[in-house]
Amino acid sequence: MEKIILTGDRPTGKLHLGHYVGSLKNRVALQNSGNFDKVFIMIADAQALTDNFDNPSKVRDNVIEVALDYLSCGIDPNKTTIFIQSEVSELTELTYYYMNLVTLSRLQRNPTVKNELALRNFEKSIPMGFLNYPISQAADITAFKATCVPVGVDQAPMIEQTREIVHSFNSIYGETLVMPEAMIPENEYEKRLPGTDGHAKMSKSLNNCIYLSDDEETIKKKVMSMYTDPNHIRVEDPGQVEGNIVFTYLDVFAKDSDFAKYLPNYKNLDELKSHYQKGGLGDVVIKKFLNNILQDFLRPIREKRHELENNIEYVYEVLEKGTEIARSYASETLKEVKDHMQINYFDSLYFKKEIVAKYSEK
Ligand code: TRP
Repeated sequence: MEKIILTGDRPTGKLHLGHYVGSLKNRVALQNSGNFDKVFIMIADAQALTDNFDNPSKVRDNVIEVALDYLSCGIDPNKTTIFIQSEVSELTELTYYYMNLVTLSRLQRNPTVKNELALRNFEKSIPMGFLNYPISQAADITAFKATCVPVGVDQAPMIEQTREIVHSFNSIYGETLVMPEAMIPENEYEKRLPGTDGHAKMSKSLNNCIYLSDDEETIKKKVMSMYTDPNHIRVEDPGQVEGNIVFTYLDVFAKDSDFAKYLPNYKNLDELKSHYQKGGLGDVVIKKFLNNILQDFLRPIREKRHELENNIEYVYEVLEKGTEIARSYASETLKEVKDHMQINYFDSLYFKKEIVAKYSEK
């Protein structure tokens, strides 16, 4: 069986370091691993509309922002098909048939849905489209016969729901859909990179993000005002590295070669940490060090992005071609689904012959 990846993001904002550490980095690695026959990345605009239906221009604008972020981070359109969800109408059609296989109470029990309903104050009056999005996600995944779905931990219940739909469809209509597996990050920071303010999660609404597209000054400002150890007041004071966001980020981004380049008095992060813990190492030193590292990391991404922004026609072309390819795969699956459900009235010669024979006997 072919090994196929499908994953995606809701286009509701530019992507940030949390997205990079938690998913983009891994996607680029998977794309380049040669272990997969096909890789699809979907910009889930239709899903984003389920809680932004009153603000379609926000979703629309961010489709391009997310595409720019993908391409500038190394998603390669020659290896990965990038496409726009709403432009593949087969997905909506599949959703409609899968809806028959899921109960209202099952959707309401989905832990991610539950959480999100509470966050959006939707509990008293739940929009059908929003409640339905796990089913539409099952359509996204199965349309491309995905075997592997790399997602964050919060998305695990969606893959579980998809697996139930696949199981149910195949039991009723015969073996048709491919059973997907979730691929969830194991590393703690990949699961959830904390925000610059020390909050457990980097998130647009908390205003604690470093965006992949931030300019040099903005990055520096954000790093210099990062949350450290509130009890580390004077340089001589012993400091704590646990929960100190500068050290968390150094854990993720610092390489030994960065020490040689920017902080040659230390060999590695362990040495830097133990000095900080003993006392005598100020926050400004570690922040400047982290700033240097993040600048080196983000500069090429930003430069690539500027290049692409100046060639936006090309970005459109990537999306249009990718969407066309995606459509051809999804329509193949939709056909198989309809064949198995026996609602293939006009494209099944067999069915027509049978009906004609039955009625001409009368
Ligand atoms: N729900 C995902 C998110 O919020 C986006 C998404 C939509 C997705 N369809 C998908 C992810 C299919 C993986 C597979 O980020």
